Amino acid sequence: MRFRSLRAAAVAAGLTVLAGAQPALAAPGGPGGPGEPRYSAGAPGVGDPYFPKEGNGGFDVRHYDVAFSYDPATRRMDATTTITAVATQDLDRFDLDFRGPAISALTVGGHPASFRRDGQELVVTPRPKLKSGKRFTVQVKYAGTPPVITDPDDSIEGWVPTDDGAFVPGEPQGSPAWLPGSDHPTDKATFTFRATVPEGITVVGNGQLLSQTTTGGRTTFVWDSTEPMATYLATVTLGRFQVARSATPSGIPIYTAVDPRLASGSAATVARIPDIVEYFSSLFGPYPFTSTGAIIDQAPDVGYALESQTKPIFSSAPSLETMAHELAHQWFGDSVSLTRWSDIWLNEGFATYAQWLWTEHNGGATAQRTFDSADNYGRASTSSFWRTALTDPGPVSMFGNVPYNRGAMTLHALRGKIGDAAFFTLLKGWAAGHKYGNATTADFVKEAQSVSGADLTGFFDVWLFKKGKPTTW
Ligand code: TRP
Ligand code: ZN
Repeated sequence: MRFRSLRAAAVAAGLTVLAGAQPALAAPGGPGGPGEPRYSAGAPGVGDPYFPKEGNGGFDVRHYDVAFSYDPATRRMDATTTITAVATQDLDRFDLDFRGPAISALTVGGHPASFRRDGQELVVTPRPKLKSGKRFTVQVKYAGTPPVITDPDDSIEGWVPTDDGAFVPGEPQGSPAWLPGSDHPTDKATFTFRATVPEGITVVGNGQLLSQTTTGGRTTFVWDSTEPMATYLATVTLGRFQVARSATPSGIPIYTAVDPRLASGSAATVARIPDIVEYFSSLFGPYPFTSTGAIIDQAPDVGYALESQTKPIFSSAPSLETMAHELAHQWFGDSVSLTRWSDIWLNEGFATYAQWLWTEHNGGATAQRTFDSADNYGRASTSSFWRTALTDPGPVSMFGNVPYNRGAMTLHALRGKIGDAAFFTLLKGWAAGHKYGNATTADFVKEAQSVSGADLTGFFDVWLFKKGKPTTW
């Protein structure tokens, strides 16, 4: 699945490799004549302002089937990933994003294809070539140790070994550590994971557990994620876990996996998952996926949590606020995804505001009090906090306090401006209207104006687009 306008932006940015790729001045009716294919290379990225090589042009991924074995003792993975995609142009070459271990074989449509690796790009030359509209498969076999990836802000992601397995977070660029694909949120797909590990280790993936079978001291877990998912939200976190299953009051299955060392420290938080999901469903509309849960692991070097689809992952025992934040992302970030990473406030500001609302609902500080606090509106007007553009924090500060706190403050201020009725209608409409899709800040501004019937130009200027502490709005 692919959002077209960013691809158009990539083309406009000159990212499509056209030079020399089209047959010149073909004879009428000959190759390249009217109605004949015009083959060219797919763009190496979708031209995201922060991660220009993330994603790829020329095709749209529909499904990933990721089959692998992994041994925590040797840290060796043996994998076969099969991608099902549809060509969106006549392709004689295309790229995948891949930072994983050595590739031993690669086929397209069952035919061996030549390939080369160039940094994070895996450049594939399919034979025969692929006509626009053609559905095709790419199968990649690889083996070795998947890498830890370091982000622009020096945090780590990708495949992070733990003392009993691996912690697997992918935002914003970690999934190519273990899975070749189109690593941009505008190309969502469905996923199946088939993971074989030593008996006693549990693999926890997104979606539903289809089967778990042990033979000869090894266990295979098959996880299926049937709702569209961005690659950065994929996980197959593995290790020693205590697994529990339950359901929310409205019947959504809950699967939780908790590192036994963190069981007592996280029990109270885990017990509130049903309440949190119910409360957010009442505010934002139905929970968007067919299962929920959490993965609580001991990964001290990671130090953050991530909203992996259907099962957020935590690198230590989470607070109730962090659990609420990651579950709110299931609506805002996972189901409704950003179109470019510079709009990260659409994820983090929304999840942070949901967290404030949960805290108030749970008897803690009111959202108004949190808004007013020293970490938020209480910051001095001279603070650097007010000098970062909320809609362009930069790749180093995309997970800094501006998208989170100023993003949440923007929503709280908007609620005050347009009133509760319009505000919650807007959020419900946002979640429903962009379900499983991608949206932009401009979409939000437009929808806020139309739901409220107000001219919010001045409001959004001071809260979203201008630097400096808002004083009147
Ligand atoms: N999106 C995560 C959250 O707020 C945080 C996160 C993901 C993060 N990747 C990161 C934070 C990298 C710092 C660095 O729930
Ligand atoms: Zn978040």
